[in-house]
Amino acid sequence: MACNVSQQQEVIEQEMKAALGKIKHKLLIMSGKGGVGKSTVATNLAVYLSDQGYKVGLMDVDIHGPSVSGLLGLTNMKLFAVEGGKIQPFQYNENLKVVSVQGFLDQPDTPIIWRGAVKMGLIGEFLSGVEWGDLDFLVIDCPPGTGDEPLTVVQKIEDCKAVIVTTPQEIALADVRKSINFCAKAETEIAGLVENMSGFVCPDCGSVHNIFKSGGGIITAAQYAIPFLGSLPIDPQVVANGDEGRTMLTLSSQTKERMGEIVKNLLDQVNK
Ligand SMILES: Nc1ncnc2c1ncn2[C@@H]1O[C@H](COP(=O)(O)OP(=O)(O)OP(=O)(O)O)[C@@H](O)[C@H]1O
Ligand SMILES: [Mg+2]
Ligand SMILES: [Zn+2]
Repeated sequence: MACNVSQQQEVIEQEMKAALGKIKHKLLIMSGKGGVGKSTVATNLAVYLSDQGYKVGLMDVDIHGPSVSGLLGLTNMKLFAVEGGKIQPFQYNENLKVVSVQGFLDQPDTPIIWRGAVKMGLIGEFLSGVEWGDLDFLVIDCPPGTGDEPLTVVQKIEDCKAVIVTTPQEIALADVRKSINFCAKAETEIAGLVENMSGFVCPDCGSVHNIFKSGGGIITAAQYAIPFLGSLPIDPQVVANGDEGRTMLTLSSQTKERMGEIVKNLLDQVNK
């Protein structure tokens, strides 16, 4: 008997449920504004957690600008293989598996225009069709804003928790409130807020200078009664590292430890 569309959908739903059931914590990395460092935070979060022995999956659902693969130095690599009808993620290290939309493009520079339905289908495929196996964490890097991608993620993953990334400027903090409202409407728990580009690590004296007003993140977090996970300064080493596909674990500046504190605070939150 031929399988009709609704039966197929049911099979996909069941596969997704089974796959999600094997993943302890699902984290959606989001921000109201673009370029605040979501992908940098998502990638390093995944790498730090895997370095501590946790089994981690990193999923890049930024369809218009996937950047996780670049940050990990995997730009020209095929990030998946299909075996037995399942997508096998790329094994970055013993504990970290990566799937990026980048792997689905022939050319790394190809821009793609996806309609909402296609995007939702692809995110569903990343959840149901990928052989993630047993994971402690699935870290999901989203494009900025509160559009189709984060919406699809929170609709498909009921127990997903959000990590909101912001910068200290008032405009970015106004955008953060949109993310907070989005999570409230979607009934998504917020694991915490990260303030990125908070002060500047001076290459001359090595200390942190505050260019923009810093500390806005902690105030906003307190205002909305959400956990503050920590802050990262603007660090020229981070840019160079990211461009070369190296993670914050290889930094010689204090940013390396600051990221470690964020990971520790996040672990405290999710294990509460
Ligand atoms: N703490 C930091 N210090 C210096 N540079 C940083 C820092 N965090 C991020 N960057 C740099 O800022 C740029 C944007 O970062 P990233 O791609 O992580 O942002 P994003 O929020 O994911 O952007 P998008 O909204 O386009 O997805 C990158 O070049 C990155 O290397
Ligand atoms: Mg990004
Ligand atoms: Zn200085």
